[in-house]
Amino acid sequence: MTDSSSGQIDHVLIEDRLFPPPAEFSQQAVFSSQAQYESMYRRAAEQPEEFWRSEALEHLHWFEPFDEVCRWDPPHAEWFVHGKTNASYNCLDRHIDAGRGDRTAIIWEGEPGDERTLSYAELRSEVSKCAAGLKQLGISAGDVVSIYMPMTPELAIAMLACARIGAVHSVIFAGFSAESIADRNNDAGAKLVITADGLYRRGKVLPLKETVDEALAKSPTVEHCLVLRRVGNDDVSMTQPRDVWWHDVVDTQSDDFPAVPMDSEASLFILYTSGSTGKPKGIRHTTAGYNLWAKRTFEWVFDHREDDIFWCTADCGWITGHSYIVYGPLSAGATCLMYEGAPNFPAEDRFWELVEKYKVTILYTAPTAIRAFIKWGDEHVDKHDLSSLRLLGSVGEGINPEAWMWYHKKIGNERCPIVDTWWQTETGGIMMSPLPGITATKPGSCTRPLPGVVPVIVDETGNAVDDQHGGMLCISKPWPGMLRGIWGDEDRFVQQYWSTVPGKYLTGDNARKDSDGYYWIMGRIDDVINVSGHRLSTIEVESALCSHEAVCEAAVVGRPDELKGQAIAAFVTIRDREPDEALRQELLLHVRKQIGALAQPDDLRFTSTLPKTRSGKIMRRLLRDIASGNEVAGDTSTLEDLTVLAKLRDDEG
Ligand code: PRX
Repeated sequence: MTDSSSGQIDHVLIEDRLFPPPAEFSQQAVFSSQAQYESMYRRAAEQPEEFWRSEALEHLHWFEPFDEVCRWDPPHAEWFVHGKTNASYNCLDRHIDAGRGDRTAIIWEGEPGDERTLSYAELRSEVSKCAAGLKQLGISAGDVVSIYMPMTPELAIAMLACARIGAVHSVIFAGFSAESIADRNNDAGAKLVITADGLYRRGKVLPLKETVDEALAKSPTVEHCLVLRRVGNDDVSMTQPRDVWWHDVVDTQSDDFPAVPMDSEASLFILYTSGSTGKPKGIRHTTAGYNLWAKRTFEWVFDHREDDIFWCTADCGWITGHSYIVYGPLSAGATCLMYEGAPNFPAEDRFWELVEKYKVTILYTAPTAIRAFIKWGDEHVDKHDLSSLRLLGSVGEGINPEAWMWYHKKIGNERCPIVDTWWQTETGGIMMSPLPGITATKPGSCTRPLPGVVPVIVDETGNAVDDQHGGMLCISKPWPGMLRGIWGDEDRFVQQYWSTVPGKYLTGDNARKDSDGYYWIMGRIDDVINVSGHRLSTIEVESALCSHEAVCEAAVVGRPDELKGQAIAAFVTIRDREPDEALRQELLLHVRKQIGALAQPDDLRFTSTLPKTRSGKIMRRLLRDIASGNEVAGDTSTLEDLTVLAKLRDDEG
């Protein structure tokens, strides 16, 4: 352990397992030697202009060339200045122009089991029709369109149709409330909302349009609502002339709508992320830089090959869906599986059934899903042939080493590399990740930065900390996929990301770099626990708990303590055992043995569920309030299941 007087984070968890990439994987990989990565990384860092010029010329279509690669006036960056391109053209026309229009772009399966396959040419026809429909509804370049839809191909079609005409999409995850939709419509000044007559979820139909109607009553800027018939719910109320059906306005259009040349820096989309407190921020991404970043990071990290079937299990309502269902894979000409429903419907083996049925080769999912699979039991996995898989990915939260090991053994059969990808809505695409052909992985580490990413870890005074010490993770150079702002809130953009360490992008995460140059994300800055002057990372204590066989999930927070400043409170879900005092003692001892007495929780509560955001992240902020005996304060609108708070209180009693 280290002295933490300078605000550095102590590192207590030792993880020394190392998994080199399998030789047969490396031989055919995009990155097949360490030297190739090193030289590319060096070129991107030392000659960024030259590096990104050639990347942009090779990987995007240009209607008009750019005249400058990057104009950097911190914190404002412009990339590929004055160039004209179109993200929908890059995702569709580019492949069709190259004679690859028959390639499958999207294989889709609905929750009830219905199937659809769209080639690149068919997808362009659908996108063109939708673009023409949007035009008919009065939408033009620069207008904001909210999209609140089930995970159907039409969701991707709507996004690409916006991009085709230069409208700015704002996808709202279809689990959000009317209030949240209205907030987002009003913040962005949305002119149109695209939705559906309903959404299938675990066999039930959720009334999306009803929720939208409630939101529209409070969304004065919205002129029209375009409604897709998904579930055949003809009872939905259609308010004339505001509401129109997709099959009337879109399906009737010509399928030849040319992509509009857009300025490189034209806004492509806004995506709202929940700040831990306060109102959601509309993260703004622009056209060329984002598109290039999504494409290249997809190709590098997922080692994309012609015959891959790529499945990213995220919803398009999150950045992961934007970058790795739509813009990244489609720009790269990949074949993607898109699934509409829940992982446990009709049974807990639905994902594995899909992997087997469609011979998925690359699976990209989240730690929260992996922990659920562990809890549901191996028998669901064992029923299926997963031999088509060659690469596994993880995103969204830190993956505890034991969950990593389960993923490696049970899903990857010890032969698929795992890419633990660290990034954020704000970064547009993956920033740190193993490159599967060359990086020896360590469970729990996102390993090294991609070309173009220059991280630095700093203490509270903004000075770089030595390797092995935890501190705040910043990015010191601009990269093409970086956010360009918070919609309508320049002050918050500057204050939140660029003020703590002037000129550097503050990620809001803590991290540590080990002696091999590997990065370990240590959780959000706000989640650090300060015990007797030692600053501890929540994830390390959680990982120590998760390494006990009875533990399924763990969340650790600090609560005020007179003697120590903060005491550690742990919330734990378990499997295959009844919780009792003996197990509680066993777990406390286990943590003490794994990482030391200092990190041993003072309270340990068993619970049946943990509060999570709708995207599956543990909401430690709420647990902090519960552990401190306070009323839960702050915004709970992003909480997935409001009954969790009541359950936690009951568990307490
Ligand atoms: O704290 C990090 C965590 O998720 C945050 C970004 O969340 P969001 O904007 O919703 O984007 C999620 C999809 C990219 C980060 O600041 N996070 C994401 N990936 C990882 C992670 N933490 C640890 N390891 C990761 N691989």
